[in-house]
Amino acid sequence: MCGIIGYIGPRNAVPILIEGLKRLEYRGYDSAGIAVVDGQRVQCQKTKGKIAALEEMVKENPMASNVGIAHTRWATHGVPSSINAHPHLDCASKIAVIHNGIIENYAELRETLINRGHTFRTDTDTEVLAHLIEHYFEGDLTRAVRKALKGVVGAYGLAVICSDDPSKVVVARNGSPLVIGIGDGEYIVASDVSAIVDHTRQVIYLKDREISVIERDTFQTMTIDKEPVTPEIEEILWDIDTIEKGGFPHFMLKEIYEQPETVRNTLRGRLDQEEGTVRFGGLLPFKEDLRRVRNIVITACGTSWHAALIGEYMIEEYARIPVEVEYASEFRYRNPIVENGTLVVAISQSGETADTLAAMREAQRHGAKALGIINVVGSTIARECDGGIYIHAGPEIGVASTKAFTSQVTALALFTILLGRMRGMSRDQGTEIIRALTAIPDQVQCILDQGEHIQKIAQCFFRQNNFLYLGRGYNFPVALEGALKLKEISYIHAEGYPAAEMKHGPIALIDENMPVVFVATLDSVREKVMSNIAEVKARKGSVIVIANEGDEKMEKYVDNAIYIPRTLELLTPILSVIPLQLLAYHMAVLRECDVDQPRNLAKSVTVE
Ligand code: F6R
Repeated sequence: MCGIIGYIGPRNAVPILIEGLKRLEYRGYDSAGIAVVDGQRVQCQKTKGKIAALEEMVKENPMASNVGIAHTRWATHGVPSSINAHPHLDCASKIAVIHNGIIENYAELRETLINRGHTFRTDTDTEVLAHLIEHYFEGDLTRAVRKALKGVVGAYGLAVICSDDPSKVVVARNGSPLVIGIGDGEYIVASDVSAIVDHTRQVIYLKDREISVIERDTFQTMTIDKEPVTPEIEEILWDIDTIEKGGFPHFMLKEIYEQPETVRNTLRGRLDQEEGTVRFGGLLPFKEDLRRVRNIVITACGTSWHAALIGEYMIEEYARIPVEVEYASEFRYRNPIVENGTLVVAISQSGETADTLAAMREAQRHGAKALGIINVVGSTIARECDGGIYIHAGPEIGVASTKAFTSQVTALALFTILLGRMRGMSRDQGTEIIRALTAIPDQVQCILDQGEHIQKIAQCFFRQNNFLYLGRGYNFPVALEGALKLKEISYIHAEGYPAAEMKHGPIALIDENMPVVFVATLDSVREKVMSNIAEVKARKGSVIVIANEGDEKMEKYVDNAIYIPRTLELLTPILSVIPLQLLAYHMAVLRECDVDQPRNLAKSVTVE
């Protein structure tokens, strides 16, 4: 996730900014940059790669100022590169902007600004902000930022400096965090407090649609509509380790709790509710190929493979295109038949998984077009695929994948709408799915709010050595994912099965020592799953069920129930997986396992 730091005060801003960037390193990034107001101009240096490289650069070309901003970038629009790194400058190189978030209407803004004579240097969405502020600038930076932001749709936490209004840093927030640290005669602004605590523990958290103008010995906060705001000063009591994890004890838990926001980010700027369809910038050159697709092969590993299975159900049901899901490790070696009209979709959080990359290359070698559904921008798969969808989940640091999974499934739902609308899905049906998707982030939050209840269930079961996870239809891959989450972080043996398969073998395992987790939402196969629950209960198995709100009579049949909000059947996995992530997490913590770095596992499997 990108990181922001800014300084104004009596000291030289440069070393403070570089140290601040180092504090933000844990968030993950691919490039970094710094800009300061130096007399009549803005001086800016930036580079791809590590902060150490930026530090070297600054040593070779020293800069000094009392006012400056700096940034670590995690690419969303445009590959990781020195040019795309922040800060971004206007045409005259007098205004410098750093930004976290996504500007949804950047394409329209960019076109308008180009028509007005602005010259763009980068592929980023952020650069439009620099030019838009330049467009409105008449000597007062605050006014120009305010006017610019009125025309912006999207999420931002940003900081701006300007050499023609040199004694201030203007910051604003909408959706992405921005904190102002109040030091002794100085201010430090940052996207999170880890970059501030070395200097002060007195902070103000900016709220959405607020702007703050920070000068050397004063600051003023207002809304974008110019209404004055009296901000509340808070004291940071956390230590640095807690701060980096956002107050959570582990990155995995932080990432689970980020999911309302990460799903929102996957949807951001892509929905056309009126037309009942979606837009993907990365698929524009691919549109004709998509119309001609006759069958789809989705290839992936691990959790991404589970998302692929859900994609298969979605695409076959709504776009009526035959889909096969292949383990990448199998596909690459089995001399697959790749017919004319086959589209290969590679799903990978990291974009670097060796087997998925090799499978994609193998498909391309056979003449297939390949599409990537990827989190890490500029990763190898992202670069080598013919078209792509970024899921925009932000860096996933916990080894067990959580937020990437829900964003992958969300992206697959969007892709399904796109394919479906090309093949007879009605506008109303497209609109219905989009409406349901828009409600998902708040529904995820409702489930997260039941964290304590899920923790209590974990307390009853964490000493067990085996678990069975069962689900049908869209919830079968969720059962697989629930079992994978549990085994990889708690080292409890767990198996996922389609519920009806139980009677073909696994039922022999059921006794009072075999807890069974059922995903039994109110869907087309719910009654069938109820029979499977009865079969387990008849054999003294304990049942934990993920059921829908409004289905409380479920409690009569099971030992423990976790209720989730209702949504359309195809979107259910985005909700039903959340309690399973939490259950696995809490059991692993109770067993004192290293949740973020489970034994024998690596975050990115770049070897066979
Ligand atoms: C499970 C997990 C792994 C990955 C798999 C693929 O929690 O993280 O199973 O899903 O190694 O990784 P990506 O998606 O990076 O290709």
